[in-house]
Amino acid sequence: MKKIDMRVLGIESSCDETAAAVVENGRVIQSSVIASQVDLHAQFGGVYPELASREHVKAINATVKEALQQAHMGLGDLDGIAVTRGPGLAGSLVVGVNLAKGLALSTDLPIVGVNHLEGHLYSAWLYQAGSKPSPEPKLPLLALLVSGGHTELVLMRDHLQYEVLGGTSDDAAGEAFDKVARLLELGYPGGPSIQKAAMQGNSRAFNFPVARLSEPWSFSFSGLKTAVLRTVEEFKSAHKTVPTADIAASFQAAVVRALFEKTIAAAREFKAREIIVAGGVSANKALREAFRSQTEFRVHIPHISLCTDNAAMIAAAGYRHFIADETSNLDFDVQANWSLAETA
Ligand code: KG4
Ligand code: ZN
Repeated sequence: MKKIDMRVLGIESSCDETAAAVVENGRVIQSSVIASQVDLHAQFGGVYPELASREHVKAINATVKEALQQAHMGLGDLDGIAVTRGPGLAGSLVVGVNLAKGLALSTDLPIVGVNHLEGHLYSAWLYQAGSKPSPEPKLPLLALLVSGGHTELVLMRDHLQYEVLGGTSDDAAGEAFDKVARLLELGYPGGPSIQKAAMQGNSRAFNFPVARLSEPWSFSFSGLKTAVLRTVEEFKSAHKTVPTADIAASFQAAVVRALFEKTIAAAREFKAREIIVAGGVSANKALREAFRSQTEFRVHIPHISLCTDNAAMIAAAGYRHFIADETSNLDFDVQANWSLAETA
């Protein structure tokens, strides 16, 4: 096994955030810088791929420089470079991967291409330098991964071992939040705007259905989305004001219930010691509260700033690869579609 004490530079550009971070030993955040394109894409109601790549090109050098500066380090202080290889928008991924390769070439540092989803999982290990260390997650773990593109239950029996128990048969949880927000004419991105509207609403106003599937560990949110659409249309055709806050609160409660119940059931079934909830949707207050209010399992949910896309999580996952002696050759390609199951 290689060096255990490592400072890793993480680089992330898979979607609409250009990010760089320096993380020590897979856990301690020395710096984490995110240049967000959210405002730019908000006018299109979603991420506009070509624009995203161009924005990454413009922002990435300054973002990496800033991350090194905030960590009070130069390239010579680093022990490795981790970069998101996929999944994501190919044109965006290329920008981060090429910069990472250029840095590796000029410094002779080892490089590793990381799966963005394993990055989300390893965000549960992170804490800020100078603050109290967060408890380290204990394996075997059951992870609920809920982002804009993925909703998966993952069993981690060991580091870098991902058994995907089930995914979504249609929309991802974050995607459902985004689509329902559009239906309710709330802002983009949908998760935070639904959460905000829901605070003024009654979560029991509407009893939206959560699909029961034959596969025990899979999710489906399209029926729920259709139920919201029908409700909105009924109010509109009756020329009544759409009760946006009540619908948002009831929709959010239905999603949280589905995610929470299946995760706990899977953790019991597979005898997990602890649970991780990660990915953009894990920033959701109601979801966090649902997991915090049970006492059967210790649940690790990253700090809100680490739930959505960042590069500290990529550095954290990269560290695990480095200490397992796994590095990438400089000719590796991006992988726009790359499941966790293929990564393990
Ligand atoms: O992990 P992430 O930043 O990007 C992907 O890898 O997809 O996740 C973005 C998703 C979006 O769908 C966004 O609406 C959702 O996470 N999200 C939330 C919240 N904050 C972000 N969903 C529910 N509640 C939130 N507070
Ligand atoms: Zn993500």
